Amino acid sequence: MITIRELIDDLKPAFSKVMNSLDIPDSTWLPLMGKATVEDHGDVALPCHSMARILRKAPQEIANQISELVDGDLQPFATVSSTSGFVNIIAKPEWIWKRISELLQDSRLGVGLDEEKTFAVDYSAPNVAKEMHVGHLRSTVIGDTIVRMLEFKGHKVIRENHVGDWGTPFGMLIEHLVDLGEDRAATELGVGDLDSFYKQARSKFVSDKEFANRSRRRVVLLQGGDEETLRLWRILVDESMRYFNEVYSMLGVMLTDDDIMGESSYQELLPEVIERLRDSGILEESDGADVVFPGGWVNRDGEPLPMIIRKADGGYNYSTSDLACIIDRVERLSCDGFLYVVGTPQKQHFEMVFQVARKASLMGDNHQAVHVNFGSVLDTDGKVLKSREGEVIKLHDLLQEAIRRAEQEIDEKNPDLVGKEREDVARAVGIGAVKYADLSTERTKDYVFDWERMLSFEGNTAPYLQYAYARICSIFRKWGGERESLRGKTDSLPENELSTLSKEELSLSRRLVKFPSILDDSVSTFSPHKLCKHLHSVASSFASFYENCSILGGGDEIITNRRLALCDLTARELELGLGMMGIDVPERM
Ligand code: ARG
Repeated sequence: MITIRELIDDLKPAFSKVMNSLDIPDSTWLPLMGKATVEDHGDVALPCHSMARILRKAPQEIANQISELVDGDLQPFATVSSTSGFVNIIAKPEWIWKRISELLQDSRLGVGLDEEKTFAVDYSAPNVAKEMHVGHLRSTVIGDTIVRMLEFKGHKVIRENHVGDWGTPFGMLIEHLVDLGEDRAATELGVGDLDSFYKQARSKFVSDKEFANRSRRRVVLLQGGDEETLRLWRILVDESMRYFNEVYSMLGVMLTDDDIMGESSYQELLPEVIERLRDSGILEESDGADVVFPGGWVNRDGEPLPMIIRKADGGYNYSTSDLACIIDRVERLSCDGFLYVVGTPQKQHFEMVFQVARKASLMGDNHQAVHVNFGSVLDTDGKVLKSREGEVIKLHDLLQEAIRRAEQEIDEKNPDLVGKEREDVARAVGIGAVKYADLSTERTKDYVFDWERMLSFEGNTAPYLQYAYARICSIFRKWGGERESLRGKTDSLPENELSTLSKEELSLSRRLVKFPSILDDSVSTFSPHKLCKHLHSVASSFASFYENCSILGGGDEIITNRRLALCDLTARELELGLGMMGIDVPERM
């Protein structure tokens, strides 16, 4: 559970005073604060177990003593108690409401700006003339959310789509294109039949000697910069990108053609990589190949595992491009951080690349390089997700199906929605469901693709959150007033008013005020699921508030305004939070 950072800030002076009187410096107790795991115990907890040794007393005794000592100073805004060695602090309604009104008046909902840094976010990265698979979908969805979050926090973000558009397979792909004729090849690729194109080329390469020889010659021509070969290569790239762009536009992600920095873009830098590694003294020769031994990795026979930089035939590797990438990102783009949103199977690759890059001083200690890894996408039987025919699923078809299923749901729930509005809502719900299901799963875990669950209007799903949002919009339509007018009125509530706050109002408020802390934690750990969990907790708290508290029917204007203000803040957190994931919130569903 995340505590409310602002509450800790407010508690600090009182605690400092007491702790210092016990000879415990801030650097000891402050980091411990906030580790409470049970929400009911309090908003913040201070575990005292590690102080037992210093103070030579039982943790429970220490917790009792501390709570007694801080109690007086905390009176105005928090209640303190102690259980089994923990000091538990619960913010009083006064404090919660003050914070609510601060969030209400802030268009950023209390989220601060970080000191600006430049991040390169490497994500999506499908391979030319190969189907974009569900792993690329995950990368695209997670990467895009991280981009939006970092930008919201005030950073400069460079999106990098490191498409696989170079390497030996292009010899056979180009020859296959020549065999088919450019027009026909373009049509096949343009409709997204990438896998069958690749397979046809591959099978000819294996079975037909003449084709294989042509393909090898073609690779040499391609690497030598032969103009005609490059023109044919471009057809492959452009037609594949046309298909990828269609998927991006269905998904509503930010990637455009300007973000493409495929493997081919680094070709000119590759000899430079060799030079730098040689200059730093780590390049070695092994059977005619140029290699580096990063150290720390061994092969199956227990021998040190090399990273091959240039093969004996002069060809470069995937790792070499990634080292070139680092040079480019550090020296041309002046990045402070590089994030690689790529599946867990490439863990070792990135660890080795980062280690070599540091050894060769391609990046320094001031650079943050992170493999933002993620698990596999599985079907409901726990196997890697495939189409019914056992093929790689075409993302375009998958997203179409999401929209179709959402349409069915909507027709059942709200037959009044018709025409363009029905279409827009179905798209927002269907695509939102797919993206959210992915994002709400902790990214390092495998994620089970389950239509029923992701499209359900119950649980931690996009439709559930969108529905809560639409419900609030309908409350505001019924009310008919100016939403903005609610934001200044509720500054602080007089004592007699505070006491009328219902249990549900309070628990919703308690959750709402966590938004800034949770968003920050979500961004700094590159973990969108933390934000998802929060939004779901807000929406479910809202549901019980809505069931138990009359919002418009109460007759008392002050209470009505206060409750409407909570509706307003709930809707804004949902909108901003889902917006961070590129998920739309329809006003009616
Ligand atoms: N194209 C690669 C793949 O499909 C992913 C590239 C990830 N980015 C990188 N800089 N290596 O596996």
